Amino acid sequence: MLEQLEQQRTDALAELETVDDSDALHEWYIKYLGKKGAVTLMLRSTGQLPPEERANFGKRANEIKHLLNEAYAQREQAVRQQELAADLESDALDVTLPGRPRTLGGIHPVTQTHREFYTIWADMGFQVFTSRDVETDEYNFQLLNFPPDHPARDMQDSFYTTDDGVILRTHTSPGQIHAMRQLGENGTQPVRVILPGMCYRYEQITARSEVQFTQVEGLAVGRKIRMSDLKGTIAAFAKRMFGQNVSVRFRASYFPFTEPSMEVDVECFLCDAQGCNVCKYTGWLEIAGSGMVHPTVLRNGGYDPTVWSGFAFGMGPERITMLRHGINDIRYFWSNDLRFLEQF
Ligand code: PHE
Repeated sequence: MLEQLEQQRTDALAELETVDDSDALHEWYIKYLGKKGAVTLMLRSTGQLPPEERANFGKRANEIKHLLNEAYAQREQAVRQQELAADLESDALDVTLPGRPRTLGGIHPVTQTHREFYTIWADMGFQVFTSRDVETDEYNFQLLNFPPDHPARDMQDSFYTTDDGVILRTHTSPGQIHAMRQLGENGTQPVRVILPGMCYRYEQITARSEVQFTQVEGLAVGRKIRMSDLKGTIAAFAKRMFGQNVSVRFRASYFPFTEPSMEVDVECFLCDAQGCNVCKYTGWLEIAGSGMVHPTVLRNGGYDPTVWSGFAFGMGPERITMLRHGINDIRYFWSNDLRFLEQF
């Protein structure tokens, strides 16, 4: 019996040497020290020995049990450390890996142009005035001197809503009426505003025209405003926007809400006015519609047109952005293609 016991001890210790994970360790424990483990069973069988052998055997069996328990505890610690180290290694952070760059949003190229406009006009005393995108026929057309069935309405095909007389604004000009009514204090105060915003036209989409686009409108109403003020102000704007040496010209045109009306051209800065396919070999680029505010429109804004006068203009920031960056298709702007947008 005693020999057998010593053999168990040798086997157990030898086996323990080879144990290298906690599952195997657990199995080893059950095998030798568990309730039905080899050493436990031997210890329990002490009573079956002849009385004179019992004390000796029992003592040795207890010693071995103790010894194996201690060996077990040591091994357990070693195994645990090993496993921890392995875990750490598999979860290891490579601190030399370069970080992933955060992708930042950018400012839309058209918004960039808008902001340049705002800065230049602010320096000349124009404040930003925004008004609604969803307009009534009254504000979009009637108050701007488009008679109900006047063919001028055909200039702009509108998006109609299911509500009678409610449309998406086709230009920012209805903002002129809102600004005069809200800031003019019943036609007693001057107004100097720019009116930026999205406009909508029911049109064929092409490289040159989109169903949505922005405009920046300008309006100045005062007591002695003359056409020379309009020309000087727009020329000053053009010089800051396109360069001090740029020439500006005004061409007679027609809008129902201005009289007289003019279109504004700047010398083509792409070909130095030599003529290219963008300026269609004219040497000039159109940048705005403008004119003196029509007396009827002034009256609709609350002013007495015999005392008050004003000028207005409307510009297309998309077109100006296209010219400046050599963009040949207006559809890029609102199609949200990052490959395009990330270039700005
Ligand atoms: N609203 C005109 C357009 O959309 C532009 C314009 C604005 C013209 C103000 C004159 C004065 O074409």
